[in-house]
Amino acid sequence: MISKSILKDIIISNEEFITKQVKQIVKRENLSFPEKLKKAVILYGVRRSGKTHILFDLFKKHKDRSLYLDFEDERLIDFEVKNFEGLKDIFLELKPELVDKELIFLFDEIQNIKGWERYCRRIVERENVKVFVSGSSSRVMPLEIHTSLRGRAWSTEVTPFSFREHLHLKGINIKDKKIIYGSKKALIKKYFTEYLKWGGFPEVSLLKSDFEKRKVIKEYIEAMFFKDLVERFNITNIHLLKTLTEKLFSSFSTKFSLTAFYKQYQQKFPFSKDTLFSYYHHFLESMLVFEIKKFSESSYKRLRNPAKIYLIDTGICKKVTSADWGRILENIVFLELRRKGDEIYYFTENRECDFIVKDNRGKLFPYQVTLELREENREREITGLTEACKRLKIKEGTIFTYDEEDSIAVEGIDIKIVPVWKWLLLPSRQS
Ligand SMILES: Nc1ncnc2c1ncn2[C@@H]1O[C@H](COP(=O)(O)OP(=O)(O)OP(=O)(O)O)[C@@H](O)[C@H]1O
Ligand SMILES: [Mg+2]
Repeated sequence: MISKSILKDIIISNEEFITKQVKQIVKRENLSFPEKLKKAVILYGVRRSGKTHILFDLFKKHKDRSLYLDFEDERLIDFEVKNFEGLKDIFLELKPELVDKELIFLFDEIQNIKGWERYCRRIVERENVKVFVSGSSSRVMPLEIHTSLRGRAWSTEVTPFSFREHLHLKGINIKDKKIIYGSKKALIKKYFTEYLKWGGFPEVSLLKSDFEKRKVIKEYIEAMFFKDLVERFNITNIHLLKTLTEKLFSSFSTKFSLTAFYKQYQQKFPFSKDTLFSYYHHFLESMLVFEIKKFSESSYKRLRNPAKIYLIDTGICKKVTSADWGRILENIVFLELRRKGDEIYYFTENRECDFIVKDNRGKLFPYQVTLELREENREREITGLTEACKRLKIKEGTIFTYDEEDSIAVEGIDIKIVPVWKWLLLPSRQS
């Protein structure tokens, strides 16, 4: 058990820390919390994506009635689930003016307190307290939480910065309509090139030098490997996991076949197909890698075709040649489509179309992504898109490029050619 006076000290010192020391917090998009529902908000997502800073931001907004505790804090080493019991009273002793008012409890690294779910369930049900928790990416995941909180959880994924958030950090007002013209446009494009290269991990966006950015990303990748995969899933075949990581982190925006991987490596070192499949699933579970399936009415065909894979952030993409920039652009488009929350597929018949997106009303939108339309690829990119449009009976399609803009009509299909950076400036979802 931890003593009352120590807890009070920690509560006050956290308050001072957040109000005085945490300065610039970029407002995160796509966060919507239930106002009236009695639910505990669970922030989950890959490491270093900004979960703690969302709690800090909430604290700053409601600082008169918020309590923040970080269960990784070494001063809380003796905190046990029993301590939750008296927490509200302790807080009210510090702030008696809040008796009968709604309180906000913000708990970070909650997974360190075994049994926290029962406490959260009870206070959101019975007390006038709003609860927001965040946990280590490898231990607090939506499926597990939903089970343990039995319908009292409101899970919200936190991802690295979108391009808009990245611009916000750079002090650009994206609501300003003029930013797509003149000198501001040049600046936006400069930041876009930077975003393309380094991705959107907030800390990486903040850093100035390439050397530091590279170092931080390297540390993230190592932590993802050892903490989010090896430790979390008790991985024993480290060599297989390493080889698979290398392969996945360099196969972004392409089809990935586990069978092909198996054939390629099984002669080189021993592992079973089952182990390979389960390791691959760990990448999906940890949300470092996402897959999309072939668009098809038949679920059998969807499953039989290899999935295309994308990574959670382009900073961790392993780039090999300069030709990879088109794939990076495609990965960025994927992440943005994912933020919008629609279903995403790829299309392939004679030619390919990178994305077919199905919105919540069932409407289909085809998208092709290419760095630039040149002599050599123009016909291929356009035919891939028009083939998908004809096959799916759609009259319009979009080709995303790095910086070209145009409108053309091909075989009765209207094609918009749009620079990705411009499209990314639009809000991804009305929250
Ligand atoms: N909204 C934000 N505005 C400004 N900087 C941010 C923001 N979010 C995150 N950062 C920066 O990124 C770093 C990581 O953020 P944070 O600690 O909130 O991530 P986390 O998801 O809680 O990480 P972990 O998984 O390690 O707990 C911070 O130290 C801060 O520098
Ligand atoms: Mg954190």
